[in-house]
Amino acid sequence: MMKEKIDKMLQELDQVRPGSKEEVEQLRIKYLSKKGEITALFNEFKSLNADEKRTMGQLINHLKDTAQAKINELKLAYDTTGNAVEAIDLTRSASAVELGTRHPLTIVRNEIIDIFSRIGFTISEGPEVEDDWHVFGALNFPPEHPARDMQDTFFVEKNPDILLRTHTSSVQSHVMTTQKPPIRVLCPGRVYRNEAISYRAHCFFHQVEGLYIDKNVSFADLKQALLYFAKEMFGEETKIRLRPSYFPFTEPSAEMDISCDICGGSGCNFCKHTGWVEILGCGMVDPAVLEACGIDSKVYTGYAFGMGVERIANLKFKVKDLRMFSENDVRFLKQFEASL
Ligand code: DAH
Repeated sequence: MMKEKIDKMLQELDQVRPGSKEEVEQLRIKYLSKKGEITALFNEFKSLNADEKRTMGQLINHLKDTAQAKINELKLAYDTTGNAVEAIDLTRSASAVELGTRHPLTIVRNEIIDIFSRIGFTISEGPEVEDDWHVFGALNFPPEHPARDMQDTFFVEKNPDILLRTHTSSVQSHVMTTQKPPIRVLCPGRVYRNEAISYRAHCFFHQVEGLYIDKNVSFADLKQALLYFAKEMFGEETKIRLRPSYFPFTEPSAEMDISCDICGGSGCNFCKHTGWVEILGCGMVDPAVLEACGIDSKVYTGYAFGMGVERIANLKFKVKDLRMFSENDVRFLKQFEASL
């Protein structure tokens, strides 16, 4: 009698296909609750004689375990998928994990850092929200200099002025006032300028600043370091050219061009048929800047340079529209996977 009941229930359990979470719960109540069929069997079991108990005991326990396991499995399936009954397909291959890629600007910034760290430069970083002194004052900008103007600078507060740094040269001011020469640092970071956004300008971009201060640092040292950088970054055949320029914080100042690596110097659209493309500003640190930061300009000299990371990335990856770098279009970003 009891054996038939057990077999029948085992068969039912094997064939049952509940269609929802609620039906699984009903199944549990039907078999395993206090008034359930299996619980009833246990009560019946008590009235059996010792012989019957021995054989039936095992069968009932097996039935109970089977029911419990089945209900647990069904519950799990509904908990994880919400609907499918036979949802756990252990043979299904796992869904692919999408790996991210490094941002092209990060790739280029890391490469710049890598190149200069090989000749002894270490990294310094400074705040993006600055006071006037660190961004302009210490760097020899006269009070009426146009870079201080509303047109260029994002102000956070006026009088005293708190602003978003417009260049990473501001980190020079921090380093020079807090460290003693010899100083050899690279300062990567984001900068802000109040410019209309277009394919060639953005209101924020990235720069890497370099600063080297010691006894007897000369313009020849600067030129050699930059030539080394250009060759490492753009290839052994790369040539550099320094053109006289002006920055308040360097004297003399120069801008550096590299030979156009698209046409190899013969002239193309990219270099506007000059064979040269501009990549950075540089110069010898103005003695007035050294003095403003508490470094004796009779003992020490130094050079500095600053470059735009987007500019280098444009040249390296031939990206024509600067806005691509900040739009986070995965189709664009994925293309740099191989450049890591
Ligand atoms: N700070 C300049 C800019 O934002 C770039 C620059 C030029 C940095 C000459 C320097 C330098 O350190 O020596 O355009």
